[in-house]
Amino acid sequence: MEQQIDLNNYEGLCRLDSTGMMDTLAGLPAQCLLAVRDICGSVELPAIEAISNIVVTGLGGSAIGGDLLRVYSAGRIPVPVTVNRDYVLPAFVGPDTLVFAVSYSGNTEETLSAYEEARARGASVIAITTGGKLGEMAAGDDIPLVKIPAGCAPRAATGYLFIPTLVILQRLGMLPDLTVETTAMAGFIKELQEKIGPESPGEENVSKQIAHKLYKKIPVIWGVSGTTEVVAQRWKGQINENAKAPAYWNVFPELNHNEIVGFEYPREILKKIHLIILRDEQDHPRVQKRIEITRDIIKDAVDGITEVWSSGDGDLARLFSLIYTGDYASLYLAALYGIDPGPVKVIDFLKWELAVE
Ligand code: F6R
Repeated sequence: MEQQIDLNNYEGLCRLDSTGMMDTLAGLPAQCLLAVRDICGSVELPAIEAISNIVVTGLGGSAIGGDLLRVYSAGRIPVPVTVNRDYVLPAFVGPDTLVFAVSYSGNTEETLSAYEEARARGASVIAITTGGKLGEMAAGDDIPLVKIPAGCAPRAATGYLFIPTLVILQRLGMLPDLTVETTAMAGFIKELQEKIGPESPGEENVSKQIAHKLYKKIPVIWGVSGTTEVVAQRWKGQINENAKAPAYWNVFPELNHNEIVGFEYPREILKKIHLIILRDEQDHPRVQKRIEITRDIIKDAVDGITEVWSSGDGDLARLFSLIYTGDYASLYLAALYGIDPGPVKVIDFLKWELAVE
């Protein structure tokens, strides 16, 4: 039986949270700083030259860092970055590919399979993991291994899973030195934490307000291609895994060419949808105009529309401001449903069933 927690009751929020998701999230700024300053320091990189494409292979919480890299690097790195969430790699992967094999646990079978395939194709491979089989394989194969701290859920380790990819690309000369931007981003989200963290009261706390809007509704999150698309996907995953609730995402401008037509039937279900539109001042002016028009077209069909604007200076800060706001909202939504945000029993069950031969 669902027992809703008052979001202003800090002890109540923590009582449900058996794995300390709330504390881990508060530690995201520190995680980002550790990742930029220390984690890759001792990793020896071989001379990797003539890279013509980059692939990040991973799943779930370990893949989202790949999407962050893809979006962040699109205007900065002259080669494509592809995120692979599968057992197999695309045909273009070969000796001129740099593959980041990312698995927090190190035991995700799709990632292990893609790792082996990348090695067989002669790609330059770098593993990012806490250990597990991926850690063992990387050590055995003598390939660069970025060992990240264990002890939290993969989805709560975004700083550890994403920032090392930036640091490595920086060390390979494919990105400029990002220490200043990353440190500033960490400082900015630390300040933001005071506004959206559990101790900030509901009247002033955007994440708590969003959770109330999403409670007993179907969240649909819309971002923008090339910028907030990764955040929309992240919000969806966090609502699924933390709040154990459905959520869906899509991106402008593509959704203007199909999804927007689907807001007529069934009316009673559409009225259960709460739409979140992620906004960023850097989005293309024509896309901003599209968002304004779209909002007017569908506003009466759905329960409501909430716009959430990014904040902070620099692309990383703006992306992480939205990620942090959504991560907190998903934990508060879990509390409204009266459930423990940490365990993901369904994922564990599925992995366990697959492991039985
Ligand atoms: C759990 C989570 C999942 C995992 C996914 C892959 O918190 O976020 O989406 O990330 O099942 O597992 P790892 O990250 O260990 O490779």
